[in-house]
Amino acid sequence: MPRVLLLPGDGVGPEVTDAARGVLEAVVRRFGVDLDFDEGLIGGASIDACGSPLADDVLERARACRAVLLGAVGGPRWDPLPVDARPEKGLLRIRKELGLFANLRPARVFPALVGASTLRPEVVEGIDLLVVRELTGGIYFGEPRGIALVDGRREARNTMVYDEVEIARIARVAFEAAGRRRRELCHVHKANVLEVSQLWVMVVEEVAKDYPEVRLSHQLVDSMAMLLLRSPRDYDVIVTANLFGDILSDEAAMITGSLGMLPSASLGEGGIGLYEPVHGSAPDIAGRDAANPLAAILSAAMLLEHSLDAPEAARAVREAVAGVLSDGHRTADLVPAGDATPISGCRAMGDHVVAKLEAA
Ligand code: IPM
Ligand code: MG
Repeated sequence: MPRVLLLPGDGVGPEVTDAARGVLEAVVRRFGVDLDFDEGLIGGASIDACGSPLADDVLERARACRAVLLGAVGGPRWDPLPVDARPEKGLLRIRKELGLFANLRPARVFPALVGASTLRPEVVEGIDLLVVRELTGGIYFGEPRGIALVDGRREARNTMVYDEVEIARIARVAFEAAGRRRRELCHVHKANVLEVSQLWVMVVEEVAKDYPEVRLSHQLVDSMAMLLLRSPRDYDVIVTANLFGDILSDEAAMITGSLGMLPSASLGEGGIGLYEPVHGSAPDIAGRDAANPLAAILSAAMLLEHSLDAPEAARAVREAVAGVLSDGHRTADLVPAGDATPISGCRAMGDHVVAKLEAA
C-alpha cells in the first residue's frame, strides 16, 4: 500500500498537516484510494529531539514512501543557530537527497477570494499561473560558501552555479507543463548582470526547439516582480532558478489573496514527491488554531494527483475547497482588517473541507 510520510515540522506546521491528513483520510473513505501514513520529525522539532534538523532514519523512511507531506520549518527559537544547523537545513537536505529538482507552485485565484487580494479585483480575476522553480541547485547549494575572516574583516560568500544539465531538465518540466496548459512559458532571469542567467537563456532556447507549440519569452527578474503586480493574468508558466523562484512565488501567492492558499509539489527523477504549503511556520500564530490549512490541503490534492495517480480525488479536494470558500468560510488571513466576517479556525476549516468532500 502506498505510504505517505507526514513531517509536520514547526510553528503552524503541525496544525495544517493535521487538517491535510484529515482530508486525505476522507479521500481514503470516499474514493477508495489506498494509502497509509508514517510520521517523523523535521526542522526545529527534530533539532530539539535529536540535535539535527533531519535525522538519517527519517530520510530513510522518506525513501521507503511514495510521498512526503510537510508542514513548515523554522522559528525564532532557532534563529541564533548558524545557517548550517538551522531548521531550514532539514528541508534543504531532504529536497536535495531525494533529488527533487522541480518545484511546482500553482497560483490560482478562487472566484470567492477575488476581493481578498490587496490588488484590485479586475487585475486579479482569472489569475492562473504556475511557477516552476529549480529547487536543488543555484545559490542555495553552491560552493564555496561561508563566513570567514579576511584581512581582519568578516567576509561572507555564496556561489551561484548551474550546469547545463540542471537547466535543461527543469526547462523540460516547464515546457511539458506549459504544453498541458495555455502553452506560454516565460523564463525569468538576470542575464544583464549574471553569467549564470546567460547560460539559462541559451539552454532554455535550445530546449525550446523540442517544444515548437509552446510560446517562449524571457523576462528580467526585477521587471517580472513589477509585471506580476501589473498584469498577473498575462502569465501561464514561469520557469526560473532557485532563488528567483523563492521570491516570485511568495509574490504570486499574495496577489491571489493570501500566502495561506498556495500549495507546492517538489518532484524529481526518483519517483518520490514532496508536498508542502508555500507559507512558512508563522510562529506568531502557531498553536492558536488560527492558521489557514488550505495551502496544506491543496498540497495534499497535488499529492493525490502526482504521486497517487488519483486525479479525480485531487479534483474533488480542490472543488471542496472552492465550495467551502464560496459558502463564505474564511480563516483570519482571508479577511481584511476591520471586516466583520466570522472567522473559522484551522481545525474548523479542515472540517468544512471534509464535510464538503463527504457530501459530494
Ligand atoms: C520556501 C521556503 C524555503 C526556501 C525556506 C524555508 C528554506 O522559503 O519553500 O519557499 O527558501 O526554499
Ligand atoms: Mg520561500
